[in-house]
Amino acid sequence: MAAGAALGLAGATSAQDLQPRLGDPVAGLTPDQYQRFRRGMTVFNTNLTPADGLGPAFNDISCGNCHSGPLPGGGSVRTVTRFGVAATGGNPFDPLGHLGGSLLQEQAISVDCEEHVPAEANVIAERMTPITFGAGLLEGIDDAELLLLASNQPPGLNGFPHMVPLLEDPTAPLRVAKFGWKGVIATTKSFSIDASLGEMGLTTVFLPNETAPNGDAAQLAFCDSVPDPEDLPDADGFTRVDRFTDFQRFLAAPPQTPRAGMAGEVLFDAIGCGGCHYSPGFVTQIAPESALSGIPIKPYTDCLLHDMGSLGDQIVQGSATEDIMHTRALWGLRARDAFLHDGRASGGSFADNMRATIAEHEGEGAASRAAFLGLSSLEQDQLIAFLASLGQEEFDAEVDNDLDEFDWFFLEPHFTGPGAGSISPDDSPANLCDLDQDGDFDLIEFGLLQRAFTGQIF
Ligand code: HEC
Ligand code: HEC
Repeated sequence: MAAGAALGLAGATSAQDLQPRLGDPVAGLTPDQYQRFRRGMTVFNTNLTPADGLGPAFNDISCGNCHSGPLPGGGSVRTVTRFGVAATGGNPFDPLGHLGGSLLQEQAISVDCEEHVPAEANVIAERMTPITFGAGLLEGIDDAELLLLASNQPPGLNGFPHMVPLLEDPTAPLRVAKFGWKGVIATTKSFSIDASLGEMGLTTVFLPNETAPNGDAAQLAFCDSVPDPEDLPDADGFTRVDRFTDFQRFLAAPPQTPRAGMAGEVLFDAIGCGGCHYSPGFVTQIAPESALSGIPIKPYTDCLLHDMGSLGDQIVQGSATEDIMHTRALWGLRARDAFLHDGRASGGSFADNMRATIAEHEGEGAASRAAFLGLSSLEQDQLIAFLASLGQEEFDAEVDNDLDEFDWFFLEPHFTGPGAGSISPDDSPANLCDLDQDGDFDLIEFGLLQRAFTGQIF
């Protein structure tokens, strides 16, 4: 970046500021909140030991082991297994709760308390680890807005909210679920409580009872020596659940570059994708933290349940029955390697994976899939270019979540100077540089580029 240093542009004033990068905290945290974010991240990534309360049966030893990509709080191709017995005749789906279902814990602190998929199970579903970037902002969407969307569904769509209790406050009114492939959890705190027990075997004041491996209380008693609840406050009075919650709550939304104006987004709405992946976005409600209050966000989800036909994973959780899945937020898409609940759309280029993902949309999603296939190939490419802007960091031409000299190699030819007016939001990759979207890559953006430069070359 010698050229930038020579020009001495670090202080250039900007019409617009940089968006937070993946894994960054939301802008505007107080120093105390920032410390809580950092401590939260550390605890999120700290391995639990059996003495801390891990197990007896569990799926992994830290949140961060699964939520790792491309940075802490992200997702991964790591899956967890759900099982049950399919409905037959008059009998509904059976999650085999008495045998430890429907969530499998695939590891154990001792061979004496391992859990296995029971022989009775004839439905076995894999679920991939989603990103949690922006989770606190998603949590901040006003339920009333989502209920309004549900009561004004476009023709052919039948989205409905999953009303669920708060694990941290079971007597509070039910809330619209915003998290999980089946949309079963409403808040980051509820998710932290649920995942502590379900994924790591850590009991809390909210869920104080261990789940017995395959429902076998004797096995549990044999293996479990730590008194419940296991999650106790640290020296500062914060439990692990508090720490996990702080970290996720303060994680910034993924960037979107360019921020608006792509032809592909217009097509996305025109063919009905936006009927579920709601594109106008929301403004978050007032929260205790001003950094989370009144923030405009575009997660591209209606947070509702939809009948997805054969794409459904055949597990039943509350009103999310066999074919019903929760609209996945599309922000951060570019940062992911595998798509759909079981990661079945993977292994190709980003564009190939997007085509495969769209092809799997059945049920209420089938009409927009057909409409996508009816687009010209130029229009299909434009729509996919829009999907690729979700999670795209500004200036990151290599899409590797850092800015170094290799990015500059691609960016330099796009430097136009002021007033060029030639960069359109669909003119990738030059749109990665035109942050204020005035059609040029000038000294204003060059100043921002200098600030964004990380120089992590090796
Ligand atoms: C074994 C891997 C694994 C571990 C450990 C794990 N998770 Fe997850 N996480 C997942 C999977 C898989 C899902 C999707 C589950 C589903 O929807 O059924 C998920 C979903 C989530 C979501 C919902 C995201 C969304 O947008 O739907 C949050 C929030 C979350 N996890 C937080 C945590 C926290 C906090 C911890 C630690 C207490 C944790 N997870 C531990 C694998 C894991
Ligand atoms: C009826 C509602 C609905 C419509 C319409 C719809 N989707 Fe989806 N979409 C979903 C649901 C639900 C999921 C999660 C599916 C699953 O559980 O595997 C999803 C998943 C996705 C994913 C994968 C996200 C991830 O993180 O794995 C992408 C990409 C996507 N949709 C794009 C589109 C596009 C593009 C269109 C228009 C052609 C579209 N969707 C139309 C409901 C819809």
